[in-house]
Amino acid sequence: MVKSIIVDTDPSPDDAVAFLMALGSPDEIELLAITTVGGNVPLHHTTRNALKALELVGRQADVPVYAGAAGPMVRTLETAEYVHGETGFEGYDLPEPVATASDGFAPDKIVDLVMSRPEKTVTLCCLAPLTNIALAMAREPRLAARLEGIVLMGGARSEGGNVTPAAEYNIYVDPEAAKKVFECGAPIVMIPLDCTHTALTQKPRLDKLRAMGGPHMAAFYHLLEWNKRFDEKAWGMDGGPLHDPTVTAYLLKPELFKGRLVNVEISCDELTRGMTVVDWHSVTNRPKNALVLTEIDADGYFDLVIERLYAARKD
Ligand code: BDR
Ligand code: CA
Repeated sequence: MVKSIIVDTDPSPDDAVAFLMALGSPDEIELLAITTVGGNVPLHHTTRNALKALELVGRQADVPVYAGAAGPMVRTLETAEYVHGETGFEGYDLPEPVATASDGFAPDKIVDLVMSRPEKTVTLCCLAPLTNIALAMAREPRLAARLEGIVLMGGARSEGGNVTPAAEYNIYVDPEAAKKVFECGAPIVMIPLDCTHTALTQKPRLDKLRAMGGPHMAAFYHLLEWNKRFDEKAWGMDGGPLHDPTVTAYLLKPELFKGRLVNVEISCDELTRGMTVVDWHSVTNRPKNALVLTEIDADGYFDLVIERLYAARKD
């Protein structure tokens, strides 16, 4: 059965790979909309990057892009230009997009789309701070119950954080939004750093991606190569973690992952701001609100990424 999804995103290259893979998988996924949020870089860049990525594969007419919240619900936005460059798409010059974002505020559009479709048929795929999702839930209290589920990249179990010792970026930026989402009652799949830090853009994988040929594969080769250099320097890893496409990969091939249904609470305290407190061993009686994936078949994942990213292009 084809899954209907909305992708909420702050496009750096890994976000773009994630939603283009969805477009490259028409037998399994119907992409209803892309909604953008301020995150890695400010909202005007994330929205433009979404449009640029769609135009790169000739798919700008196939899915609307709606801009959403410029920053978190109650805090100031902390961007990550040090990771992704000034525009969020550093490493390869993509042409300015011709298309523009569609009219409407992303949280409102999420509500409209989910509420107008049959119950439990829409999955939210979240690749960024969860501000738009929490705002949508605040606007429509019946939203969570109407969802098929939420699959998100964010958090960490025992890996530790990538912006503070405790927190991963997407959860750190808007912890109040994340708390609202984790408490919403919809089935949640959380893909944390424990998983993505073992899914690295090692040279043979990027070479394989480029060898597929075509301008979009060349563009992503360079964009991911730029990220790889930063990550290798910052983390001493062999390659950079390819975070967000894990969400699309999970929809397509859940068998690539292993995890556990557990309780996850979000810390909004300063020292541990944005920490995902994962009750891995069920030492509390708190409700099991998230399937936390901690293992991935990295080679199988990259094969899938390359196949579906390649298939995204319409000539
Ligand atoms: C998350 O932050 C962003 O840089 C990536 O796109 C991913 O969503 C990883 O912490
Ligand atoms: Ca992201």
